[in-house]
Amino acid sequence: MPRFSIRPAIVTDALGYIDLIRDVLAEQPPVDTPYTSDEFNPPVERIGARILDVVESDNSCFLIAEAEGVLIGALTCAGGTLAADHHVTSLGMYVAKEWRDQGVGRTLMEHCIAWAEASPAVERIELEVYAGNARAIHLYEQFGFDHEGRKRRMIYQNGAYIDNLIMARLLEKPRR
Ligand SMILES: CC(C)(COP(=O)(O)OP(=O)(O)OC[C@H]1O[C@@H](n2cnc3c(N)ncnc32)[C@H](O)[C@@H]1OP(=O)(O)O)[C@@H](O)C(=O)NCCC(=O)NCCS
Repeated sequence: MPRFSIRPAIVTDALGYIDLIRDVLAEQPPVDTPYTSDEFNPPVERIGARILDVVESDNSCFLIAEAEGVLIGALTCAGGTLAADHHVTSLGMYVAKEWRDQGVGRTLMEHCIAWAEASPAVERIELEVYAGNARAIHLYEQFGFDHEGRKRRMIYQNGAYIDNLIMARLLEKPRR
């Protein structure tokens, strides 16, 4: 029996989501993400509004992983806002430290791909990942994300430059 479940976010998840991301950003050693904890402090209402927007949208999703009522992971896809990139959605995901390497990320991704395949709009899921984030890259490759490029010295953190990889998965859809 799974110890966690995946579902679309609802407005009351906003605080749990903020807590999850802030906990991840406060980790030592730091996780592979460009934000510092000081740089992620959105009002709960803003996250709640984003969750509501996603419900109305065909090119964005906001998925939650939950265990015994606690939010332990999240995957967001932010859809393009122009007519020209409405078919594109940008993926980000985080799993709480104590839950990593237990299939939460894989299960979130399965739900994301099922959502994207069912969406009439989404034809491209894209993301950026630190070039040294072997676990995340492995997960994305397993789900058919191709390597499209490398943004050299994209990040400067803790006294060193880091390259970002661009990865994307295409989905075939009848052209509207
Ligand atoms: C990246 C992340 C979302 C993945 O979620 P997760 O729940 O840990 O992932 P899963 O347990 O479902 O899968 C991890 C996979 O990576 C593999 N893996 C773990 N460490 C690895 C490493 N160093 N190199 C290669 N693969 C690795 C695991 O074996 C597993 O693959 P498998 O299913 O083929 O055995 C999560 O670890 C996380 O939140 N990390 C910190 C934040 C982050 O890096 N987010 C992504 C930013 S782009």
